Order: sequence, then C-alpha cells, then structure tokens
Amino acid sequence: MNLLKLKIYICLFVLFSCSEDSPSSSNNNIDGNGNTNLNSDIIPHKEYSLDSFGNILDTEIMIEDFDSAATCKNCHEEIYNQWASSFHALSFNDPIFMSMWSSEKNSHPETGTMYCVQCHAPAAFVTGYSLEGINSQSDLKHSDIPNIIKEGVSCDICHTMVQKSPTVHTQDNIAAVAEYFLNPGEDIKYGSIQDPDCSANEESGAHSDCQYLPLFKSSSSCKPCHDQTIRGMPIETTVSQWDEHPPLAMFGPSCQDCHMPKIGSHSSHYFAGVDLLFYDGVDESSDQYQQVINLLEQSATIHLGYFDTVKDSIYIEDNILYLPITVNNLTGHRLPSGTPFSREAWVEIKVFDSEGNIIFDKGALENPYDIINHDDPDIILYTTILYDQENLEGNIVYEPSKALSYDDRTLRTLFYDSHQYQIEIENSLSGLITVKARMLFRSFKPQILNEFHPSSINNLPVIEICSDSVSVMIP
Ligand code: HEC
Ligand code: HEC
Ligand code: HEC
Ligand code: HEC
Ligand code: HEC
Repeated sequence: MNLLKLKIYICLFVLFSCSEDSPSSSNNNIDGNGNTNLNSDIIPHKEYSLDSFGNILDTEIMIEDFDSAATCKNCHEEIYNQWASSFHALSFNDPIFMSMWSSEKNSHPETGTMYCVQCHAPAAFVTGYSLEGINSQSDLKHSDIPNIIKEGVSCDICHTMVQKSPTVHTQDNIAAVAEYFLNPGEDIKYGSIQDPDCSANEESGAHSDCQYLPLFKSSSSCKPCHDQTIRGMPIETTVSQWDEHPPLAMFGPSCQDCHMPKIGSHSSHYFAGVDLLFYDGVDESSDQYQQVINLLEQSATIHLGYFDTVKDSIYIEDNILYLPITVNNLTGHRLPSGTPFSREAWVEIKVFDSEGNIIFDKGALENPYDIINHDDPDIILYTTILYDQENLEGNIVYEPSKALSYDDRTLRTLFYDSHQYQIEIENSLSGLITVKARMLFRSFKPQILNEFHPSSINNLPVIEICSDSVSVMIP
C-alpha cells in the first residue's frame, strides 16, 4: 500500500460523497455492513452452546474433526512454512500470552481459561477441550493435547469457516462469547480459489473437496477474533475501525490486501503485523523481521511542516523556533490498532546547532526499554491507556479485562495529526540548525514486559517507521 494508492482511495471517497444520486457502489462490495451475501444459507455449520461462564455446554464439533497444520504441509508447503512463522501459529505457544493468561485465570477463576482461549486456541474453545494443567510453554510442549490446539490459529480454524462472525462483545463478567460458524470434519476446505479442483486428493486421504467462498476475500473473515468490545468500550476493534471508514469498506483495500499480499501465485500467510520474536534477541535476517519492517515502513509518513509539502511554515520569532510536524496514518485502521494498549508509536525529535550539539529533544530514549512520559504535552505518542476505574481514574492497567475506562490516543484511520513545537533559541546561537524527526514504534510498553516477561526487556526492539529532516538558518 503506497501513498499514491491511498490518495486515489481518498479521491474516490470525495467523488463518491459529492455525487449523492450515484448508484450505490456497495453492489459490487462484499464487505459493506448491510451486505448479507457473505453468509451462505446453503452451507451448514456445526453448532455449539455456552454456559454463562463461557464454557461449552453442548457442541457438535469433535476435536478429531480438525486436521493439524502438519497434514497440510505435504501439498501446501510454502503456505505452511509462512504460517508456521506467523503469530497465528504462536498465538497459544507464546511466553507473554502464557503469563498474561495465568494472570487472567487468577483474577477471573471461573471464566479466565476460556476467555483468552476463545481466540488464541479456538479448537479447544469450540470443542470444550480441557486445558487443565497448562500454564506455561513448557507445560504445553510436554502435554499430550492434540496439535490442532497447540497450533493456535491453525489452518483449519480459518479454512472450515463458512459464515462471517459478529463482533465479540465481552461483558462485565469477562466470559467467552465468540461465535464461530465452522464446518470441520467433512473433508472439505473453503478458500479463495475460484473453481478449485481437489478431486485428485482422495487417494492421499486429504480433503477430497474444496469450495470457493467470497468470505475469504473479505475483511469479515478476520472478524471472529480481530473485533472485540469490552464492557462496551471499543478496545480491540480493528475490523470495525476499517469498516467504519467508507473509502476502505467500499473500495478496499481489505485486511488481506495489506496483510496477505500475493507472493507468486499464493496469498502470503506470514500475517505480518508488528510482533516479532524478540524474547531471546531479534534475528534481523529472518523472514519475519523483514516482513514486519516492510509493513511498518508503509504505515505512516511524517513531515516537518503542515500537510505534505510546505516547509515555510517553520519560522523564528522573538527567539522562538516554531516547528510544525504532521503525521499521516496510512494503515487501514487506527495506528496502532489490534491491542493498542500494548503498542507505542511516537515521534523522536532532535534539534542540533551548527556544531552538532543537541539544543532540544523529545521522545529520544537512551534505552529501548525507557518509559515514555505520556503526560508531556510535547510528546507525540500514539497508544491507548487503560484505567481500572471509570473516568480515567484509578491505576493504569495493561489487561483489558481489568479496564473500566480507556484513553484512546491512537491516530485515526487514514487521517493526520499536527503538532507545533515551540523551541526557545538562545540569543548567542547563529548559523544553521538542523532538525531531525523520526517516527518510532515498539510492540510492547516496557511496563508490560516488566510485569509479564521481565527477562526479555533488554531485547525489546524499537523500529523506525519514517523520518524527515530540515535545516533552518538563524539570522
Ligand atoms: C494431498 C495434497 C493436499 C493436502 C494434504 C492438503 N491439500 Fe488443500 N488442496 C490441495 C489441492 C490439489 C487443492 C486445489 C488447488 C487448486 O485447485 O488450485 C487444494 C486446495 C485447498 C484450499 C483452497 C480451497 C479454495 O476453494 O480456495 C484450501 C483452503 C486448502 N486446500 C486447505 C488445506 C488445508 C487446511 C490442509 C490441511 C488440513 C490441506 N489443504 C491439505 C491438495 C492438498
Ligand atoms: C487467519 C486465517 C487463516 C489461516 C490461519 C490460514 N489461512 Fe489460508 N487463507 C486465508 C484467507 C483469508 C485466504 C484468502 C486470501 C486471499 O485470497 O486474499 C487464504 C488462502 C488460502 C489458500 C488458497 C489461495 C492461495 O493463496 O493459495 C490456501 C490453499 C490456503 N489458504 C491454505 C492454508 C493452509 C495450508 C494454512 C495453514 C498452514 C492456512 N491456509 C492458514 C486465511 C487463513
Ligand atoms: C481465530 C481467530 C483469528 C482469526 C480468524 C484471525 N486472526 Fe489474526 N490473530 C489472532 C490472534 C489471537 C493473534 C495474536 C497472536 C499473538 O500474537 O499471540 C493474531 C495476530 C494477527 C496478526 C499479527 C499481529 C501482530 O501484531 O504482529 C495479523 C497481521 C493478523 N492476525 C491478521 C489477520 C487477518 C488479516 C485475518 C483475516 C484474514 C485474521 N488475522 C484472522 C486471531 C485471529
Ligand atoms: C492499507 C493497508 C492496511 C489495511 C487495509 C489493514 N492493515 Fe493492518 N496494518 C497495516 C500496517 C501498515 C500495520 C503496521 C502499523 C500499525 O501498527 O498499525 C498494520 C498493523 C496491524 C496489526 C498489528 C497491530 C497494530 O499495531 O496495529 C493488526 C492486528 C492488523 N494490522 C490487522 C488488520 C486487520 C484485521 C485488517 C482488516 C480489518 C487490517 N489490518 C487492515 C496495514 C493495513
Ligand atoms: C476476541 C478475541 C481475543 C480475546 C478474547 C483475547 N485475545 Fe489476545 N489477541 C487477539 C488478537 C486478534 C491479537 C492480535 C492483535 C495485535 O497484534 O495487536 C491478540 C494479541 C494478544 C497478545 C500479543 C500482543 C499483545 O498485545 O500483548 C497477547 C499477549 C494476548 N493477545 C493475550 C491475551 C490474553 C492473556 C487474553 C485473555 C485475557 C486474550 N489475549 C484474549 C484476540 C483476542
């Protein structure tokens, strides 16, 4: 997704909203809210029902109905390898998840187990499989629970999906309520290949049938897990952020366009986002690292000035340097999205005199794990802050299940944000001063790692998204 494309989408939006009587272009849109043709009436799904604690009361889905990802590898090797290095494959088998899940089970003993697992190990959720005794990665490794559970968001969770799901509305009791419409165990996979031919598979015992569903081309297929409100607050609502933005919902790009781009003839299954395996150090040569860097570099632009071009809005008056900065969000949702309370995107700005000495800086960290002061009005920081009391009172918490209010400081979808620094320039200063601004990102706040995975804090990567610089002559 580049800037040019983005501008075309914005122009299209302007065009569309001006011509009121233009025929609804949602005719050829498969993502729009009111459109129901994603939900095929013909394809049956297997039902399950939940008690008020989010545990399975009754289910038609057997754990044996799901095939492990390992069985797909023979024929879909490239996709398998990509998926295996994605965070979907690690959604259950992850140290930070395990540590936060334990905390959830302690604070909500009756609902905590299934609440997290409903999205992070959905095969256990929909079958009601007991996860007793699993509290760490090592427990998971040594446990004999079926691989499909260990595999987290595995192939068969997505490729047995036959209808779009509603948003997950988590209530005050923090119990699981996710609704999946799955049809596993019937020897058929659903996907995005039109007119697929799976008949030759019969001999090998693999799925002998496959079917095209428009759902797989739609952002709605990500909804069962990427859209959650908690106590009515839209804390993790990536799909809604996308859907509520007409240029995206009507003309695309979809989640898949950005997160599953075509690699050769296949859709990428790396599912690159912002997470990296950094716990024991980052491997900069890994595919995962390259994918994340590439994505982050496309996520925003910054300019020292207002809007895209003009730099003459920078001036000095009465020994004050007036320095505007504009940040543009180019993603398909707010920045950051997903679990924004864990993430931080911010601007580091440094002003140098003609000798190269720093005369002003903000957002510059000595160590990647230094804490950013979000009360400083001159810090440009995009994140969400959760509080354990209403009206942004009480303590700051890092687990949404404990939040009663939240402060949304994320950057709006396809929107920009401007700020003007006012920097005092000493009388004695003369010559050329240089301003360097960088937008930086880290996938975890150090406060979270301190609480849930302290041993990895030294390895936390800080990634540069974009930068700009300008020189100003002091008269
Ligand atoms: C014996 C080989 C084989 C195995 C094993 C296999 N597949 Fe397939 N799969 C195929 C073939 C062949 C196609 C059809 C490709 C085409 O028509 O272009 C296919 C197509 C698909 C499609 C596309 C369906 C569509 O309409 O878009 C999906 C999704 C899929 N397989 C998922 C899986 C999953 C998940 C597994 C493991 C649980 C798996 N496959 C195991 C051979 C296999
Ligand atoms: C999070 C959901 C998800 C998971 C997990 C997932 N897929 Fe997919 N897969 C999709 C979506 C969505 C598409 C359609 C993408 C598009 O066409 O834009 C797709 C496309 C496919 C296709 C057909 C098109 C192509 O690109 O070749 C195959 C085959 C496939 N997946 C196999 C697999 C296998 C095998 C696994 C596990 C190793 C897997 N998928 C895991 C969501 C998923
Ligand atoms: C069954 C639930 C489920 C479905 C369906 C699903 N996801 Fe995810 N996804 C997750 C979970 C859980 C994680 C977090 C994994 C982790 O880091 O522990 C995740 C992580 C991701 C990430 C990585 C985020 C990061 O910060 O690195 C991306 C990108 C992503 N999903 C995209 C998609 C897209 C696109 C779709 C739809 C085609 C989709 N997902 C469908 C559950 C799901
Ligand atoms: C225009 C391209 C684009 C579209 C469309 C898009 N994303 Fe993203 N997404 C990005 C970029 C770039 C990032 C990295 C910057 C960031 O943190 O948001 C990202 C990040 C993410 C993350 C990581 C968490 C985070 O920090 O934001 C998740 C999860 C995610 N996207 C899911 C989705 C889902 C689900 C959809 C569909 C509703 C979607 N994305 C649509 C470009 C896109
Ligand atoms: C409604 C589905 C859903 C539920 C319920 C859910 N998650 Fe997630 N979780 C996700 C998705 C989707 C992502 C990926 C978003 C992103 O990468 O920003 C994610 C990301 C994460 C991550 C990785 C990044 C981060 O922000 O820390 C952790 C750890 C995590 N979840 C832990 C948990 C725990 C613990 C619970 C239970 C208290 C839980 N999740 C409940 C869907 C869910």
